[in-house]
Amino acid sequence: MTVRPGTRFDEDAAIEVWRACLGVRGRLPSAARIAQVRRKLRAPDALHLVAEDDGRVVGMLLAELSTEEAGVLHLSMLFVHPDRWRRGIGTSLLTALTSRYPRVSTWTAADDEPALGAYARSGFVRTGRVQDDLVQLAKSPAAQDVPP
Ligand SMILES: CC(C)(COP(=O)(O)OP(=O)(O)OC[C@H]1O[C@@H](n2cnc3c(N)ncnc32)[C@H](O)[C@@H]1OP(=O)(O)O)[C@@H](O)C(=O)NCCC(=O)NCCS
Repeated sequence: MTVRPGTRFDEDAAIEVWRACLGVRGRLPSAARIAQVRRKLRAPDALHLVAEDDGRVVGMLLAELSTEEAGVLHLSMLFVHPDRWRRGIGTSLLTALTSRYPRVSTWTAADDEPALGAYARSGFVRTGRVQDDLVQLAKSPAAQDVPP
C-alpha cells in the first residue's frame, strides 16, 4: 500500500471511497454534494492524498488552508474504504500529511470512535472547541521540533 498525491484520474475512485463510507451509515450523498466534493478536490489550494493498494484507491484525504488560522491546514475529509478498515491505512494517510505539514486541525463527530481513535493514534488532541455534535482536534509540531 502506498500513499501518494491524488490526481484528476483518482477523483472518481476517491469519491467512491467516500460514498462507500457514507453508505455504511445509510446516508448516500446527493448529486449536489458529490459535485461540491469534486470542486473541493479540484480547488487550487486542495491537498489531496490517496492510499493505493494493488492499483486500487482504498483511502483518501483532503485538506486545505485553514480560513481561521494562518499556517494551519484544515483536514476536511479522511476516508478509508469499509472493506479495508482497521489495517493502518487511515494512520498512513495521516502520517503522510502531518510529516510534511505539522500543523493540522479537523472537526469530527464527538461519538465517532473509529475517527477519534485514528486521530488520537496520530497525535491529534482535542482543542476544546465544540460545535453542535462536532469536536475540533488538532496536531501541532512536537515540542522538540519548535525552534527556541
Ligand atoms: C476513521 C477511519 C478513516 C480510520 O481508518 P482506518 O484505516 O480504519 O484506521 P487505522 O487502521 O489506521 O486505525 C487507527 C486507529 O483508529 C482507531 N480505530 C480504527 N477503527 C476503529 C474502530 N472500528 N473502532 C474503534 N477504534 C478504531 C484505533 O485506535 C486504531 O488503532 P489500533 O488499530 O492500533 O487500535 C475509517 O474508519 C473511516 O474511513 N471511517 C469513516 C469515515 C470517517 O469517519 N472519517 C473521519 C471523519 S471525516
